[in-house]
Amino acid sequence: MADDSPQGAGHGVLGHLPPLPRRALSNSLIAMEQACRKREGLPLLTDADIEALKAGRPMSWESGDAASAPVTAASPPTPAPTPTAAAPAAPTPAAAAATPAPSADISEEVAKWVAAGKKWSKSAIAAEQAHRGRKGLPALNDAEITALLGEPATPAATAPPANAPAAPVAPAAATAASAPRPAAATPTPAPRPAATVTASAAASVARTGESTKYVGTPAVGTSKAAAGAGVASVGPEDNEVNRQRRALVWSTVAAFLTAWFIAFFRFFLPRTLFEPATSFKIGYPEEYGLGVDTKWQQKYRIWVDRTPDRLFVIYARCTHLGCTPDWKSSENKFKCPCHGSGYDSEGVNFEGPAPRPMDRAHIERSPDGQILVDVSKLYQWPKGQPSQFNDDGSYLPL
Ligand code: FES
Repeated sequence: MADDSPQGAGHGVLGHLPPLPRRALSNSLIAMEQACRKREGLPLLTDADIEALKAGRPMSWESGDAASAPVTAASPPTPAPTPTAAAPAAPTPAAAAATPAPSADISEEVAKWVAAGKKWSKSAIAAEQAHRGRKGLPALNDAEITALLGEPATPAATAPPANAPAAPVAPAAATAASAPRPAAATPTPAPRPAATVTASAAASVARTGESTKYVGTPAVGTSKAAAGAGVASVGPEDNEVNRQRRALVWSTVAAFLTAWFIAFFRFFLPRTLFEPATSFKIGYPEEYGLGVDTKWQQKYRIWVDRTPDRLFVIYARCTHLGCTPDWKSSENKFKCPCHGSGYDSEGVNFEGPAPRPMDRAHIERSPDGQILVDVSKLYQWPKGQPSQFNDDGSYLPL
């Protein structure tokens, strides 16, 4: 900012407004300026000033009227002298401070950017600072930051050091001609120390590294970059609600990525079927009575069939097309539900399209005396061929 000394009714206080020449400002920009002034204790813009800013005209006190010389924040602590237009004035720091910011502090590259007329945002400056840090280039100084932000240079930046020799002094008339308001017209209040006079909130943060409160909707995702470059952090506040929102978003992203990776790796695994074991024990022969026992039909797809002299196991698969027949105890037969094939109680076909009796599974005694069945080895009685139902292993003699 060029001048943040509080003055009455906003006259003579440029605040955060860009210097002349200046294009027309929008309502939102003017509202932000008013908010900044209110926060910093500066006098508010008057209706006339606002109208002038909207129209892109100089404000009344910026019209170049020599009768209104500006009062700068870098004025010496003692009350400013009261120069007359005719009398030569003594050299004062105020006169030097009223001059524009020296271009010596601004590099040629930055001067070109400023001349291009594009106003930089704080995040863009932060990115530039970070870029310079990575490349080992000198960082932007306060004057360059202020110029890029489109704000007038700070008087403090141009004020000579306290122990510096006095600079050549321009006549008071010359000072008055270059400034819109005479110092005599309005007494200069005691200025703040130069160290406390800041060009803008962003420039202040650039020096101190402290965050400023933002006005309006903050930019998102610039906090780290800004902090790395020492410029104001303008990201969302780090409160509990925002932390919960971030946690929710990251949890969703993590869940999505996890599911995606599981599906991706599952693609490489073989699609195998885990069938039940083909060899198993079904207890002792004494546990089975005469006739058909269906208790292993669901688990092993077999029926245990006992006759007075032997025990055998029928594999429950129709020899027509492979359906599983039902045991009809009232009819003492197996009946296939698919095409009606009928088998007697020993699994021998007698009706329907079945071409041969149902197969029998290998059966033997295990060392512990139980019946050991192996359905991977079946005994058949093909049509017109010898029967395998009397082979060893096709039944247990009782
Ligand atoms: Fe059993 Fe056709 S599958 S009769």
